[in-house]
Amino acid sequence: MQQLLAEQEREFYDEQYRQFLELPDADLVCNRRTLAAGLADPANPSYERRVVYQAALEYLLSEPLTGRTALDYGCGTGDWGLMLAGEGAAVTLLDLSPVAIRLGLRRAAASGVAGRVRGVARDASDLSCFGDGEFDLIFGSFALHHTLKYPRARDELLRVLKPGGRLVLVETYGNNPLLNAARIVRRRVSREPAEQGEGIILNDSDLDALRPLVGELEVYPVNLLAMGKRLFRGRLSRRWARGVVRGLEWMDERLLAAWPFLRRYCGEAVIIGRKRR
Ligand SMILES: C[S@@+](CC[C@H](N)C(=O)[O-])C[C@H]1O[C@@H](n2cnc3c(N)ncnc32)[C@H](O)[C@@H]1O
Repeated sequence: MQQLLAEQEREFYDEQYRQFLELPDADLVCNRRTLAAGLADPANPSYERRVVYQAALEYLLSEPLTGRTALDYGCGTGDWGLMLAGEGAAVTLLDLSPVAIRLGLRRAAASGVAGRVRGVARDASDLSCFGDGEFDLIFGSFALHHTLKYPRARDELLRVLKPGGRLVLVETYGNNPLLNAARIVRRRVSREPAEQGEGIILNDSDLDALRPLVGELEVYPVNLLAMGKRLFRGRLSRRWARGVVRGLEWMDERLLAAWPFLRRYCGEAVIIGRKRR
């Protein structure tokens, strides 16, 4: 079963990423500036996630990166790993999809950081190619919920993190039964392929299982009403759609400040861990 699922996911993501290999080098450049520009551009797909990404970016940049070893876990198009390399980290891009890795390495060359980036196409449930404690920092964006279904993935992730190292995850957050039901309906209506991984959503019990292994683990949930943004996916270039989403974000700010217990029902989170020394 695991073999079949991994194979299906690999094929699915290979197909998703292949189109980017056609782009000219100038369009493949990625660094802190291009990442931030993408978050501010309503036509860019990352705009929809800008609140959670902005929080992750600020945290990642809050400690020095020069000379640190970093793993971009389930890197996809590699934007985050390449940004970290641009800030001086020695980065490993890891993904099940060999096309993602090919793309990431081409982007590294286009971005002038090829000397600080290596790529590994591999299933994250077996990281035996890396030593214990090899990474100072492990970053994963919407990737852990893909790998947690493999029993060894969690142990492998934490094995390769250095004692005292940072784990930074950006994830969908699944304590809210209403949001979870809406996700199921949306998946069925849009006939979203299972490989997209929306069927598994990280919740507090997954994080509780991680907690004793990591040491410190903080969760910063964002977007409650603003998860309504999903209804406007692909339409955020339109001023009215952005206006609605900003209105929902404005209401969230006030609601969550007044009733902090509502945070656990938010739909996305930045999760920050530090491995016990
Ligand atoms: C939703 S995408 C996120 C990609 C990227 N981090 C981002 O935020 O755009 C999930 C990624 O996890 C990768 N993935 C899925 N299962 C994996 C596994 N078992 N081992 C390594 N990577 C995996 C997929 O190939 C895909 O690139």
